[in-house]
Amino acid sequence: MLINDPKLLTSLAELGVERRPAAKLSELTSLGIGGTTDLLRINRHESIPDLLQLLDANHIPHKFLGGGSNLLVNDGELPWVILQLAPPEPGVVLEGNLAHVDAAADLGRTVTFCAKHDLGGMEGLIGVPGTVGGALRMNAGAYGMQIGSYVREVKLYRAATREIETLRGHQISFEYRHTSFAADDMMLAVILELPSKPYNEILKGIRICNEKRRSSQPLGQKSAGCIFKNPPGASAGRMIDELGLKGLTVGDARVSDRHANFFVNTGRASAKDMLALISDVRERVQKSYGVALENEVVVWNA
Ligand code: EPU
Repeated sequence: MLINDPKLLTSLAELGVERRPAAKLSELTSLGIGGTTDLLRINRHESIPDLLQLLDANHIPHKFLGGGSNLLVNDGELPWVILQLAPPEPGVVLEGNLAHVDAAADLGRTVTFCAKHDLGGMEGLIGVPGTVGGALRMNAGAYGMQIGSYVREVKLYRAATREIETLRGHQISFEYRHTSFAADDMMLAVILELPSKPYNEILKGIRICNEKRRSSQPLGQKSAGCIFKNPPGASAGRMIDELGLKGLTVGDARVSDRHANFFVNTGRASAKDMLALISDVRERVQKSYGVALENEVVVWNA
């Protein structure tokens, strides 16, 4: 969706919102798939309520983009604009065991920065691409930990109240790859409370996780991480592998040869290809195991 109304463009500029016309989602997502739309970069959190009111008044639908690392976006001209927070400098400020982190901060850099200041706990998340806001919304986790365990406070734009609010950790429920945030809430910042640990010890944990990830996941390829959630007590990757589906392709969308729950874009895969591959694998798993796999990847295909 392209914004052409000069009056609206002026109002956006007045809010400090930077417009990138016809941004390619294929360049903003780790899968390398997605059509074009205007991208609105937000420089000040405080401008968000006015910005959303402005978009609503002009009948312009929107979606919030984090780091684009767990996302499958439709092809062609997209019927909504994208809102994204500009990355802050610095992204993290420490105060004792508390890390004040902007939602747009890079997750990996945040983990490393905290580690260097002897704050651990998040070793498992090293190597998970994306922003802290994205990790928070999905309650990202790996190797026995999840980010939700460390959340003390979250600042967010609440779509229901149209206001910026602060929630304490206990007011939010963090489950396996799921949180109580609404789909149209926008994460703005988080305070993490992290355990003290000597840097050398954290580094050991980071190296172990890095090694495990390197040996089991297709890190150099375009993917969105795991496509399906693990069903209770089972592994989606193992089931897909057992069915012999590694290497299955639709166009340039392919079930990874390294990890069967990673679907990779080997060239110029379209969203249509990837969605067809997802449905095909889901149907085969349903037929053989009687299990309905649920997407872990977020799909924007409306
Ligand atoms: N397995 C296979 N074949 C495969 C893949 C896995 O047999 O192709 C087997 C493995 O040998 C292992 C079991 O399945 O016995 C589980 O595999 P793995 O340890 O790779 O973990 P996972 O359950 O597939 C989860 C998360 C990953 C996270 C890893 C490490 C989900 C959906 N996935 O994968 O997270 O990195 O554990 O903790 O929860 C993501 O969220 O995008 C993601 C990649």
